[in-house]
Amino acid sequence: MEKDILSLMDLVPEDFELLFQRARELKSRHRRGICEKSLAGKTVGLVFEKPSTRTRISFEAATAQLGGTPLFIQAGETQLSRNEPIADTARVLERYLDALVLRTYSQDMQEEFARIASIPIINALTDVYHPCQVLSDLFTVVECKNDLSGLKIAWIGDGNNMSHSWINAAAKLDFTLVLACPEAYMPDPGILSAAKEIAGDRIVIGSDPVSAAKEADVINTDVWASMGMEAESEKRARIFAPFQVNEELLSHAAADVIVMHCLPAHRGEEISAGVLDGERSVVWDQTENKLHMHKAILEVLITG
Ligand code: CP
Ligand code: NVA
Repeated sequence: MEKDILSLMDLVPEDFELLFQRARELKSRHRRGICEKSLAGKTVGLVFEKPSTRTRISFEAATAQLGGTPLFIQAGETQLSRNEPIADTARVLERYLDALVLRTYSQDMQEEFARIASIPIINALTDVYHPCQVLSDLFTVVECKNDLSGLKIAWIGDGNNMSHSWINAAAKLDFTLVLACPEAYMPDPGILSAAKEIAGDRIVIGSDPVSAAKEADVINTDVWASMGMEAESEKRARIFAPFQVNEELLSHAAADVIVMHCLPAHRGEEISAGVLDGERSVVWDQTENKLHMHKAILEVLITG
């Protein structure tokens, strides 16, 4: 493994396998009530510029349950908000912490932290990527389907940070990713072409939700207006309406399709209430798996 997880392009297939394996073990041990000590004496900082329920709390709980100490820090309450340079902040935090989990608008900011700091930097979401979410989502797919190989995974909706991390994952792992996004809300062309150079025809991009959903083993969606884009919500709601994941769309998928959403969800917008709360939805297992995957990530990056 590299020192940091800033993007899934940082991982090789063996890294994914290692993380799935360790998350599986930690989940089983957690269920059996086994107390872990692998992060005893370690301190994990979380610096967040954007809101979070799942990622923050699962990383904090993961650290505590492994015997370490989580420190949550609102970015706005640090000297970063008064223009202390990122490089100086990184040099300070590496003296106190064993790893730093960052949620920022800018991907470049995380890359600068990673260049300067000797400790692992873990991307807990930027405007560009959400790699740890997609790691735990891949783990959920493996749990449900045993193997990623040969699966058709659909992404329906915005070409956003989540879609970019799914595109990266498809470059590294053997599944087919079919995306259906409105013409004006396609994923970043650079991210797409870099992944397609590796994955070739296993990444398919278009604007037809029905052909993306057809015979899909997994259907994924996400909010239409990500954090920071709230001002566009109304306009997006009109444009994205044909991309709702609902019962009709599901009727085109494989009979044993699973539906995923990283949450928070907006019932009646990107997903119907019936589908989110229905029998094909795995969203609550998906959200639980963030805890187990984040433990695996912290352990592997901090203790090697
Ligand atoms: N899925 C996810 O990242 O949720 P939060 O924004 O609540 O962390
Ligand atoms: N695309 C969403 C993901 C939230 C977890 C956002 O960035 O707001």
